[in-house]
Amino acid sequence: MSATNATSAASASTETDRVIIFDTTLRDGEQCPGASMTFEEKLEVADLLDTMGVDVIEAGFPIASNGDFDSVAEIARRTKRAVIAGLARAIPADIARAGEAVKHARRPRIHTFVSTSPIHLEFQMRKTQDQVIDIITATVSQARNLIDDIEWSAMDATRTPLDYLVRCVETAIKSGATTINLPDTVGYATPSEYEAMFRNVRERVLDRVPNPEKIVFSAHCHDDLGLAVANSLAALAGGARQIECTVNGLGERAGNAALEEVVMAIRTRSDVLPYQTGIDATLVTRASKLVSAVTSFPVQYNKAIVGRNAFAHESGIHQDGMLKNNTTYEIMTPDSVGVSKTSLVMGKHSGRAAFRDKLKALGYELGENALNDAFTRFKDLADRKKVVYDEDIEALVDQEIAAAHD
Ligand code: KIV
Ligand code: ZN
Repeated sequence: MSATNATSAASASTETDRVIIFDTTLRDGEQCPGASMTFEEKLEVADLLDTMGVDVIEAGFPIASNGDFDSVAEIARRTKRAVIAGLARAIPADIARAGEAVKHARRPRIHTFVSTSPIHLEFQMRKTQDQVIDIITATVSQARNLIDDIEWSAMDATRTPLDYLVRCVETAIKSGATTINLPDTVGYATPSEYEAMFRNVRERVLDRVPNPEKIVFSAHCHDDLGLAVANSLAALAGGARQIECTVNGLGERAGNAALEEVVMAIRTRSDVLPYQTGIDATLVTRASKLVSAVTSFPVQYNKAIVGRNAFAHESGIHQDGMLKNNTTYEIMTPDSVGVSKTSLVMGKHSGRAAFRDKLKALGYELGENALNDAFTRFKDLADRKKVVYDEDIEALVDQEIAAAHD
């Protein structure tokens, strides 16, 4: 293919603005120490992911244990819509086991990976670059003989020299892979580097493989530097059209890119992120609560989108603005992510407007003087307590009303 054709092939496969959401809560998420789930819990999570509109569910690592095999196989059998992927190392027995586990899915996928960086080749695999190329050819071909839909990942892609990465990707595609995942396995990349890697690899590979328009590039980011979501979004600009993520950002070490953050960033900033996902975002809070409950991993209070403070306002200035118009301090509505309402938390930073509004919600109509007295007493109380609950306010106002009648 000529250079011109190559460019058009590269842009052809990024023409679509649809981003495939690949959820790996049940595989990379479960690799988070202490986050293991039972068979039934995994089925419940998978059912909800499918209902939410997740495109690909990585259901587990079938060779890891009989329990993992059984849950992947059952999720494959029961899932109505999503592609079901099983993970396999570049080892024939792994690939056979993954193929066996996913084969009953309506849309099965084998996801196989091998390390490509010099650090991993030297210290972990003890293989040469040429040996790894042979391994890619053999294992991707084996997987492709079992299942049509094959994803191949270059583990530690972001610390792999570009020339060698291009060689590996070309080999994987020619051996039958149609999704190419370039993970930031150790959370090392910055957004501009990650974007450039996708752009460069695509530009150099797509003119050398058959049917380039069928190849989907995928981002898989870890959060060691807190950049997983930013890197995933940057990958889209470089031509990736699949993002691998987990509910609540659960995952190895500092976790993976958080599904709810990726989805809501794309939705809220469509002006600069001109893409779409198929996710019903009103279910992300439910998914967050379910995953937190089954893994016993609490969600940090100030976690974006699904933390309990994500739609809570305490300062007087913010509460006043919110009472006038909620776009003053909220860039998305709580109901867009399945939260019933904004909460104006009553504390020492709350102002008179929020206090008046709270009294109204509690059914009190106070005159100006009584309101001023009650507000002063509320501020005193708020100085002593971190959060003032509705019951505290009711007691305080009831005392105020009783005093007025004495
Ligand atoms: O982080 C990683 O590189 C992985 C691969 C198995 C895709 O999880
Ligand atoms: Zn990972």
